[in-house]
Amino acid sequence: MSKINNSPKASAVTKKKNVILRVLGMLYRDYPRLVPITACCILFAALVSAIPAIFIQKITAAIEIHVLTGDYAAAAKEIVPSIIFLASLYVISIIAITVDTQLTAKITQGFLSKMRIRMFRGMQNLPIKYFDTHKHGDIMSYYTNDIDTLRELISRSIPTLLRSGIIVLTVFGIMIYYSVWLTLILILGVILMLLVSKKAGGGSAKHFIGLQRSVGKLEGYVQEMMNGQKVVKVFSREEKCSEEFRAVNNTLYEESFKAHAYSNVLGPVIMNIGNIMYVIIATVGGLFLLIPNFYNLSLSSIPFGISIVVPFLNMTKQFTGNINQLSQQINSIVMAMAGANRVFELIDEEPEADDGYVTLVNARVDENGNITEVPEHTGKWAWRHPHSEDGSVTYTLLRGDVRMTDVDFEYEEGKPVLRDVSVYAEPGQKVAFVGATGAGKTTITNLINRYYDIADGKIRYDGININKIKKSDLRRSLGIVLQETNLFTGTVMDNIRYGKLEATDEECIAAAKLSGADDFIRRLPAGYNTELSGNGSNLSQGQRQLIAIARAAVADPPVMILDEATSSIDTRTEAIVQAGMDKLMQGRTVFVIAHRLSTVRNSDVIMVLDHGRIIERGSHEKLIAEKGTYYQLYTGAFELE
Ligand SMILES: Nc1ncnc2c1ncn2[C@@H]1O[C@H](COP(=O)(O)OP(=O)(O)OP(=O)(O)O)[C@@H](O)[C@H]1O
Ligand SMILES: [Mg+2]
Repeated sequence: MSKINNSPKASAVTKKKNVILRVLGMLYRDYPRLVPITACCILFAALVSAIPAIFIQKITAAIEIHVLTGDYAAAAKEIVPSIIFLASLYVISIIAITVDTQLTAKITQGFLSKMRIRMFRGMQNLPIKYFDTHKHGDIMSYYTNDIDTLRELISRSIPTLLRSGIIVLTVFGIMIYYSVWLTLILILGVILMLLVSKKAGGGSAKHFIGLQRSVGKLEGYVQEMMNGQKVVKVFSREEKCSEEFRAVNNTLYEESFKAHAYSNVLGPVIMNIGNIMYVIIATVGGLFLLIPNFYNLSLSSIPFGISIVVPFLNMTKQFTGNINQLSQQINSIVMAMAGANRVFELIDEEPEADDGYVTLVNARVDENGNITEVPEHTGKWAWRHPHSEDGSVTYTLLRGDVRMTDVDFEYEEGKPVLRDVSVYAEPGQKVAFVGATGAGKTTITNLINRYYDIADGKIRYDGININKIKKSDLRRSLGIVLQETNLFTGTVMDNIRYGKLEATDEECIAAAKLSGADDFIRRLPAGYNTELSGNGSNLSQGQRQLIAIARAAVADPPVMILDEATSSIDTRTEAIVQAGMDKLMQGRTVFVIAHRLSTVRNSDVIMVLDHGRIIERGSHEKLIAEKGTYYQLYTGAFELE
């Protein structure tokens, strides 16, 4: 268990650095054709917008040489082809940009959609412990706020990095080619720009990370308060909640303000440094023009003149403008890193381990008792148990025989919850657990369905160690009514059918009749088609429990676990439920947990739990005769009633 605890932190730290690379890798894997096509379009458009300086140089040179000397024909002969060529490049570039924007939108939205599915699928495979230890609102914000940072990254930052990066490099190459001196001056300016952006960007980075975290906290708080509105109101804690909310909101405000205050200053500062550079280059370039036989240190054979200074100025604007563009992306990259880190934290979370290889299959039993596996539904099930040693496969009929032997368990290290628990339940038996609140009754059921794994001891199901059984098959064979009922948005019928998706309406209604739910459902405004909302808040607690029982009953499982399933149901209706359950569960195993001891009276065996130990076991009559804890609970309860 400690493994599950430590892994997310460790993975988050190691993955932190290459989170952007990881996004890029995933993007490419998701869109192996579209990503290169888009990159090529961006590349082409960027090159086209970087090279006009060359044409400006040519045109200026032609003007300098021919127009000033009056040779218009020669000038036209050099200028016109350049203009036509440039114009055609621009036309193609428009097409490239159109393709690029369309594809970028498709890739971005598609990638986000795939990511959400990855997250959801990952989340579904997480152990119950994860949900016990994480705020649900915080998990929600992975799906909304955090993933949204990736949208900005993919649709804007990465294309800009590519586009501006290419323009900067190309323009830089052309500038060096034309004039090393002027380029050196420009580089000094760029160094200044980088220092400024590092300062501002670095300052905002930690606040952007804080911002993401604060949004998660805020969503977590709002969700908790929504769930707990009734409690808030009954204790009149609205004022206190508002105060707490103000505190959470204030942290968000401060992080957000600091992040943006730093980053907002970046753009204008860099732009103005760029403007200053323009003036300096213009001045210095002009001064160079005045120096006779100026040694330009250029890589080209073009003599230093106005035809160098004019395109150079043009390139200065382009160069600093694109550096500005690049620096603008720092924010969204930092933010995307923060968001992506949280998203990956969820994706990287260790899934619920399942190394089970014994599976549940449809079975047919012949007159000699031989079991064969069949594809169609027969109403009989068998455990398919492959043996790695000799490659053979054995089948065991699913009967619902559950045995726990000397089981120890703790949720948190050093705090044992169950000690030496041994339980034997044969098919057809009804086993009850009673005991004080917190004694460990629900915990036992958590172990049978493997929400948690035991630390020591053994649990066998039809003679098979449950660790060998595939979790989904194990759970499929168990009908469980949890202590807290959860109903989903949908009709009453949908909620019952949740127990067995292929169940017909008739089967669902039969299950509802069996569990005593049919009566009240028919009295609902739209009967079985009544829409339930917000965890069935339009029903009474007992009605919710009845639907939960019907949902478990429709699955027709060989083992049924009822954890306080009838705690909110009146005793008369409970008797109906009991009778229905007894009919349903003939020849199957039932575990019942109940504080109301009349519920467990008719069990074959009653286990009395105390601080994680079974202290008494036996039938109702035996335990009463023993006059021990059960006797006290039973008679005490009666006195209270
Ligand atoms: N998810 C959990 N993480 C840590 N400890 C837990 C968790 N769930 C239960 N416990 C602890 O385990 C002990 C047994 O809890 P359990 O839910 O099994 O009690 P119970 O017998 O079902 O009680 P009740 O009658 O109130 O339902 C309690 O002391 C509780 O504090
Ligand atoms: Mg419980």
